Amino acid sequence: MSVTDVEKRTSPNGGVRGEATRRRTFAVISHPDAGKSTLTEALALHASAINTAGAVHGKAGRRGVTSDWMAMERDRGISITSAVLRFDYDDYVLNLLDTPGHADFSEDTYRVLEAVDCAIMLLDSAKGLEPQTLKLFDVCRSRHVPVVTFVNKWDRPGREPLELLDEIEQRIGLRPTPVNWPVGIAGDFRGLIERSTGRYTAYTRTPGGAERALEATFGADEAREREGAAYEAAAEELALLDAIGASVDMPSFLAGESSPVLFGAALPNFGVRRLLDAMCDLAPAPQARESVDGDERPVDAPFSGLVFKVQANMDPAHRDRVAFVRVCSGQFTRGMVLTHAATGRPFATKYAQAMFGQDRETVETAFPGDVIGLVNAGALRPGDTLYADVPVSFPPIPSFAPEHFAVVRCKDAGKYKQFRRGIDQLDTEGVVQVLSSDLRGDQAPVLAAVGPLQFDVVLHRLEHEFGARSELDHLDYSLARLTDADGVTALAGVRGAEVLTRRLDGSLLALFADKWRLNAITRDNPSLRLDSLLAGTIQDAA
Ligand code: G4P
Repeated sequence: MSVTDVEKRTSPNGGVRGEATRRRTFAVISHPDAGKSTLTEALALHASAINTAGAVHGKAGRRGVTSDWMAMERDRGISITSAVLRFDYDDYVLNLLDTPGHADFSEDTYRVLEAVDCAIMLLDSAKGLEPQTLKLFDVCRSRHVPVVTFVNKWDRPGREPLELLDEIEQRIGLRPTPVNWPVGIAGDFRGLIERSTGRYTAYTRTPGGAERALEATFGADEAREREGAAYEAAAEELALLDAIGASVDMPSFLAGESSPVLFGAALPNFGVRRLLDAMCDLAPAPQARESVDGDERPVDAPFSGLVFKVQANMDPAHRDRVAFVRVCSGQFTRGMVLTHAATGRPFATKYAQAMFGQDRETVETAFPGDVIGLVNAGALRPGDTLYADVPVSFPPIPSFAPEHFAVVRCKDAGKYKQFRRGIDQLDTEGVVQVLSSDLRGDQAPVLAAVGPLQFDVVLHRLEHEFGARSELDHLDYSLARLTDADGVTALAGVRGAEVLTRRLDGSLLALFADKWRLNAITRDNPSLRLDSLLAGTIQDAA
């Protein structure tokens, strides 16, 4: 069947391209406590996805912890797994993919960024760029994901707006281009001037911030009269910005060189609707995606999707595995039989679901940019491609350099079989990387993680899902490099280094206590192959 035939069949009105154009698929990247949960709630509130803010995410104590799937997450009041929110806003369909909000990294965080077309970089106005924001920004940069910046908490004392812009430019080389500008210093927030029109929006707090803030819009003269010196100060700063030409520039934004900046406060709901509008106006719609062969799969080609996350046992009542698939091209219709590119096997999609926190509903159709949850996805792994009719494989999701290593042992010898099954399962899902060596034997594999919280997830799941209580012994390594058989020989018996095999792909990882150890060994063995696990900036930022 040719591409054109399939197009006619799946979209009689040529609708796939139109549907793709309406989609905006994005994530919020931030440091813990910058206000990501609050902003997510506020965005969803404006898009009328929920009735009261607090019903989507909610930390411990807030209402309806719908994105926290595991009991452990509830205990800790954090969200480890990634939720996907889909909501309609005007003529747009927005897909907001949640990145885990805790201080630790897991590969999940990175994988989510493979599945989005844009990111909101959320900054706390008092803190500016913080370590986790920087790391995540680096991932966006390496994936060429355009970034919109939202400076949050403007209702509280914070830094000067120009100083924050300067920090963005100096530290990450991203040219900030303000969309709007705050009137009133941080802590005394009056409203926002829209740069393109000069119109001024004043905000009035609603009690508790759970409702949309009251907004009133004025022309420049009225605004000047209303806000006095605060307005004058903002106007002066704006004149400065105009003089240096810091205006929104689509080509450089899409190329990841500049970032439109918006100011506001998520909690009292100031400037959140403007942010939503900006996402619709500025964020790119789903585009053709490059395959491993370097060909482009246009959005209106037959269905293709990328598995970016696999999660088991999200619902204790159904011990199932859900694969989260980002639709890359074509129309998805529940019941279609897809092909799993890695194995060439058919994959039935009778149980496709839309994911909204913990609530799931059956999804009948989906278009490029949407995320579907496929149940009973035993064979699917993160990075896999599914397609209909015309074969395609997307490049694998890069595996990130682990920085934390620990030996895991089953506490109860009678449960070893369950333990092995659990370790294999968690390895396949990509919850951690599992390493082993002849020297260490099979009983106590080494786990490698990007962030230590991944270990807690492993222990919790081994015990609660597989009935194998286990313990960890942390290893004193912090760096991993790819090596070869010569590396195994050269590093045998060397203090502060060890070579292990990654089970999933058989690659050899050389582990080092720290960079001094690595440097010393490289000096002594200049011909040793020690490659970074991921080319680019992530390794350096880590
Ligand atoms: P996170 O998901 O990025 O970790 O942050 P979260 O939304 O949980 O926000 C962290 C804290 O910052 C919360 O306060 C939240 O209420 C507050 N916050 C978020 N946005 C704003 C804002 O625009 N203005 C002000 N003033 N505060 C904001 P908390 O006391 O830690 O939690 P809670 O008891 O309010 O839930």
